[in-house]
Amino acid sequence: MFSYKFSLFELYVLFFILVLQRPMATTRAEDDTESHEVAEVDNNWWRHAVFYQIYPRSFMDSDDDGIGDLQGIISKLPYLAETGITATWLSPIFKSPMVDFGYDISDFKDIHHEYGNIDDFEELILQANSLGIKIVLDFVPNHSSDQCEWFKKSAAREEGYEDFYIWADGKINANGEQEPPNNWQSIFYGPAWTWHPEREQYYYHQFTKEQPDLNYRNSEVIKAMDEVILFWLDKGVSGFRVDAVNHLFEDPDLKDEPLSGKTEDPKSYDYTQHLYTKDLPEVYDMLQHWRALLDDYSQTHGGPERIMMTEAYGDIKYLMDYYENKEGVKGPQFPFNFLLLTDLNSKSDARDFVFNIQKWLTYMPRNHVANWVMGNHDNPRIASRFSSNSVDAINMLIMSLPGVAVTYNGEEIGMEDFRDISWVDTVDPPALNAGPDKYKLVSRDPERTPFQWSAEKNAGFSNADKTWLPVHPNYEELNLELQKATEKSHYTIYKDLVQLRKSEVLQQGHTRLEVFNRNVFAVIRSLKGDKSIITIINVGPEEEVVDLHDILDDVKQLTVLISGANSIYEKGNAIAVEEVTNFIMAPQEAVVCMIE
Ligand code: GLC
Ligand code: MG
Repeated sequence: MFSYKFSLFELYVLFFILVLQRPMATTRAEDDTESHEVAEVDNNWWRHAVFYQIYPRSFMDSDDDGIGDLQGIISKLPYLAETGITATWLSPIFKSPMVDFGYDISDFKDIHHEYGNIDDFEELILQANSLGIKIVLDFVPNHSSDQCEWFKKSAAREEGYEDFYIWADGKINANGEQEPPNNWQSIFYGPAWTWHPEREQYYYHQFTKEQPDLNYRNSEVIKAMDEVILFWLDKGVSGFRVDAVNHLFEDPDLKDEPLSGKTEDPKSYDYTQHLYTKDLPEVYDMLQHWRALLDDYSQTHGGPERIMMTEAYGDIKYLMDYYENKEGVKGPQFPFNFLLLTDLNSKSDARDFVFNIQKWLTYMPRNHVANWVMGNHDNPRIASRFSSNSVDAINMLIMSLPGVAVTYNGEEIGMEDFRDISWVDTVDPPALNAGPDKYKLVSRDPERTPFQWSAEKNAGFSNADKTWLPVHPNYEELNLELQKATEKSHYTIYKDLVQLRKSEVLQQGHTRLEVFNRNVFAVIRSLKGDKSIITIINVGPEEEVVDLHDILDDVKQLTVLISGANSIYEKGNAIAVEEVTNFIMAPQEAVVCMIE
């Protein structure tokens, strides 16, 4: 079927032409690991980066307690460098009672003891930087742990701390009983208010009752959090992923929220419309304040731009003003784009994909950087959300799109959710709140199981007898070691993609999206003076045949750059013009080609 096969040498030449063709003024430091020590400041380091999210508890355990830790991460830095990624973001590593696995912080300036200590952290930064990898930390400003000194002092009405949190008196109902101040619900099920017997008031918590919300209407709280940011910047972090930012402010009058009509269950978060607890305009002020703090730090301390990327699930118009408001005031470098995570699933067809990708690009203000989040510790994995056959196609898609790609650890090997975690082994707080009958509907444990490094005990994650979450039983067949040894695996494809993404056409090129039919679509990236790259994706369950001439003028031949594990195409294949007319795509297959 193919008119020509490339030799190894030709492939090498091809790679050379494609990737190293021109000096890349803007991204040199990230492309050349040897040059990271050159004092040249690279403010573009983040603009086309793959941000690899590490969930520290599940990444690598160095001390055999069944819990991942900083030394574990350090031991795997060479692996990260080998994949070609240049930036990571770490879920929280701070001191915590671990009710919400680190998202309940009791000391914002200390490392959690199970993960190591501040020396380990300094070593991590040093080693990562020496491998050309930037470290971004999770900044969790909305709430602390109830074990945080601030909360204890606030509960005791200690001077200066009285209003650090959101306190309110209860209401007395018709039966003379005490009730929470209003009808606000926690995201994790049940009332967002908990009675504090010492203070004799209710406190507000958007998440678990062990995560009281800080009061951002108090300038002392803002100051305290600025210090947290500066503390970690001084340790050498390159920026922050900022947690749950759209929950930073609530209506000061504590008005009841109108009912949504979506559910009869008054304990459900969906019971009310969140007019007074979410996406308040004051959120912009805080984000702009933090952006100014980071910009000021970068300027006064030199070095590359320190960045922030925010987590908020919400209306796209509201999110776009995070980038920059109408007056041109900037917030985060980018708000996470969750459209491909929340609005696409195994039922989505080619039109849904293109529509959602285009949506972000359409709404985004000019001269900003797009981003594509395909997974995180709060959502089902690619293999489980789509299908295990879709992993390569989905990775090819996000790597072909412009801007930042975000990979959740394990997605490079196509790890699967472990849906059969028993009730006894369940630890995620919303799952515990839901109870033994309903926990599987909300549990985030399935996507948080330990990284599958090898076929050894506990998938090579730990030598402990019991790991904090069970290892997925499929680890003997699905692990990194095996995929490294297989010529074409999710991992080798992922690695090729990260490399290809460093080409100028994928970094700077114009983006065009085309729908062929209900199942097949394409992303075309083109740059004047460069050969264009096309990624063709069949998201459907059947083989499809499309005519690429429908969307490409003047194509003479395609050269396959990357293809999926089960693809009929091989890297280096040249596809002649006749075959371009009847281009065969296997089910759930994708292929990345250079257009000649
Ligand atoms: C974010 C985190 C999630 C956590 C919540 C509360 O959504 O990603 O894991 O439970 O914030 O901090
Ligand atoms: Mg450990």
